[in-house]
Amino acid sequence: MKLIGTGSALPKRQVTNDEISQFLDTGDAWIRPRTGIRSRHVISDERIEDLAADAARRALDMAGLSPQDIDFFICSNVVNEYMTPGLSCIVAHKMGMACPMIDINCACPGFIYAMDIAETYFQAGKVNHVLILCAEEPTRMTSWEDRGTCVLFGDGAGAAVFTRGDKLKAVRLNAEPDPDKICEIRTLMPTPFITKEETGTPLLMKGREVFKFAVSTSIRDIRTVMAQSGLTPDRVDWFMIHQANLRIIDAIREGLGIDPARFPANIGDHGNSSSASCPILLDECNRQGMFKRGDILVFSAFGAGLLSAAAVLEW
Ligand code: COA
Repeated sequence: MKLIGTGSALPKRQVTNDEISQFLDTGDAWIRPRTGIRSRHVISDERIEDLAADAARRALDMAGLSPQDIDFFICSNVVNEYMTPGLSCIVAHKMGMACPMIDINCACPGFIYAMDIAETYFQAGKVNHVLILCAEEPTRMTSWEDRGTCVLFGDGAGAAVFTRGDKLKAVRLNAEPDPDKICEIRTLMPTPFITKEETGTPLLMKGREVFKFAVSTSIRDIRTVMAQSGLTPDRVDWFMIHQANLRIIDAIREGLGIDPARFPANIGDHGNSSSASCPILLDECNRQGMFKRGDILVFSAFGAGLLSAAAVLEW
């Protein structure tokens, strides 16, 4: 497949570290050196489906397509206000899109998992145009009393449109199931057969263990996809790493021994927006005119599951 459009949308409310320190025992002096985050976009009076539809429309506009031209829609989302239907149906209803659609919950590597699914549909000859939309509101998942997690996240939506082509050069999907490292447990209603109360939790995360997983798995995933596509690191133009923490990105870069200029980052003003992070970064870099035809982009993302993934895309 081949990428022909990108789009993104962010909540208008941008919350600085200093603002958080007004209601929580934390501050810029702790957050910034450990994460690289100065501020994050946080949902306030918007709805995630509206941001999602905006991101999708921008990607379709860039591709020169209408919603009716899409014949498969993959939506990556961890939570929204509905348990069912999936966010894909809610967004499609807003946009007047009625092709087959699926939702995936692969957390942060969702964009790369979605690209792999899309490529499989293209190779099967089933589709001409696929829309991938990643829309996340992790700030609704974390407890805003838990300074160890809430400071890390931000909300947003990123989208990409693909058509037939041969620009996706390699993908590696990886799973090391270990749910307790990052999870959120929902509250379940009693039934006639289950009487005990099942109380949920907000997002729980073992930060240090996730950090180690992220760095080691990303380096391995990136080396694997480069080897699969016969690339040496100097041939890669851009490393598009999931924006979880600047220290994680720096450790990956140091592990690979690559110059920082090829690692675009927007975490400073965004925080970690889960699966939306890679397509938002992609769209921002694209609209800044950073990519030229033939550039090689390597994506890498990691998160809850634990899942990780990497991919090589030629521009
Ligand atoms: N403000 C002030 N202090 C905080 C804090 C905050 N926001 N969050 C935690 N602390 C405190 C803790 O209470 C603890 O204090 P103690 O030592 O007195 O118990 C201390 O800081 C913990 O520090 P430490 O564990 O050394 O922090 P760290 O350097 O490991 O950084 C993370 C913590 C969460 C930033 C880091 O582990 C991380 O980024 N992990 C990956 C998380 C991630 O990206 N997850 C998503 C992946 S998709």
